[in-house]
Amino acid sequence: MNQLLNANNQGIPLSILSTDNFDSWLSQQNELVRTWLKQTQYKGCGLSLIPNHTGALTQVVFIVETPEHYFSCGELAKQLPAGQYSLKADTKHHEAIAFSWAIGCYQFDVYKTVEKPQVTLGLASQTLADKVLKQVEATVLVRDLINMPPADMMPEHLAQTMSDLAEQYDANMSQLVGDELLEHNYPTIHAVGRASCHKPRLLDLTWGDEKHPKVTLVGKGVCFDSGGLDLKPKVGMRNMKKDMGGAAHVIGLAQLIMTNNLPIRLRVLVPAVENVVSSNALRPGDVVKTRQGLTVEIDNTDAEGRLVLCDALNEAQNDDPELLIDFATLTGAMRIALGTELPGFFSTNRKIANDIIDAGEDVFDPVWQMPLYQPYKELFKSEIADMTNCPTVPQGAAICAALYLQYFVDEKTDWLHFDVMAWNNRKLSGRPLGGEAFGIRAVYTYLASRFNA
Ligand code: BES
Ligand code: ZN
Ligand code: ZN
Repeated sequence: MNQLLNANNQGIPLSILSTDNFDSWLSQQNELVRTWLKQTQYKGCGLSLIPNHTGALTQVVFIVETPEHYFSCGELAKQLPAGQYSLKADTKHHEAIAFSWAIGCYQFDVYKTVEKPQVTLGLASQTLADKVLKQVEATVLVRDLINMPPADMMPEHLAQTMSDLAEQYDANMSQLVGDELLEHNYPTIHAVGRASCHKPRLLDLTWGDEKHPKVTLVGKGVCFDSGGLDLKPKVGMRNMKKDMGGAAHVIGLAQLIMTNNLPIRLRVLVPAVENVVSSNALRPGDVVKTRQGLTVEIDNTDAEGRLVLCDALNEAQNDDPELLIDFATLTGAMRIALGTELPGFFSTNRKIANDIIDAGEDVFDPVWQMPLYQPYKELFKSEIADMTNCPTVPQGAAICAALYLQYFVDEKTDWLHFDVMAWNNRKLSGRPLGGEAFGIRAVYTYLASRFNA
């Protein structure tokens, strides 16, 4: 990772500028450079590799419309010959350029030998390089966890990931496995996960000074979502290894918080299960008593995320966190509402929501607020239990899923719920197809400005 960015300014000069600055940059170039650009019909947009009179590469110019965008240079590193480059750009764009350069080098290579760009970008300061590398590492961790094949990212693997992280940052990690979940009263996590030979787990990590303000993260860790007895059709099941994406998001966010030593008391809860079919699988029509006490009639075994989350959210409030945030690949409906590239979130606190939206805009990690429209809570009526796990009408399903979770969140708790895609459906600059982190830089930026005072 460190070879992506450093503070070496001896490399080949790499000028990155916006379209409007091309003419003034050109006027400062010598005759040879100007002739080269003219001969190669460079129009002041994109990449040019500029040689000297012997043919050796002496400088590179890359012109983009928006160098301040965190993914603008996402394809740059792959297009350059191996070597050390030295960034020449407006200092206010350095962070965004460095991020997009480094994240653009990402490729999931656990199962395939791939050629990685052998290039390094030299920045003016090592401090900036380190700051950016931490953000890149968190995004890479989220992507890697999601991209792993499901057989290699089952609940026990998520547990290993979290305990490795705990060891690295001197945090505590504990877990409840299989029937221990029943003994400690986590009935919904057990009910969803009991049909798999990969036992269901509740993973619990704590880190930081107990006197610092408490922030608790909860992530949906459904390592594979077949839908259960309400089995998904094959198209819907194909990418369901990503259903632990919420867990991946909170693990990446936790790493970012710990590596930056944010003065908070952090807790991370991950209910980790596999939602599959077996003779002991949860059935439509079954009733489960939740940790909180409400009984839930299972209308659809594919609405399993909210089930594993409700017990975890309930536990999360045990020590009164100042802020409770969950990430989950909770509904297909959020994609219908906002498309696949904009994560929706819900909040019980308008000020916090606005601050997160602003933070997201600052770091090009946009998030969109959705309403916790209370009248839809009536749709959870059950004839035989306190509520069902999903309404019988399909409309507003992302809102309804959030409302289901809200039944388990205390009124006084400031709570944010992110319904994320966790996946790039199309290739974009710096964003290959596959696992993706949404919103963690927005939330981190918010937390850093709120608690780092
Ligand atoms: N994991 C899915 C949601 C999902 C699907 C997220 C596709 C991202 C992309 C979740 O467990 C699920 O199956 N939800 C159902 C809920 C329904 C049964 C109320 C859905 O969205 O269809
Ligand atoms: Zn499901
Ligand atoms: Zn799911």
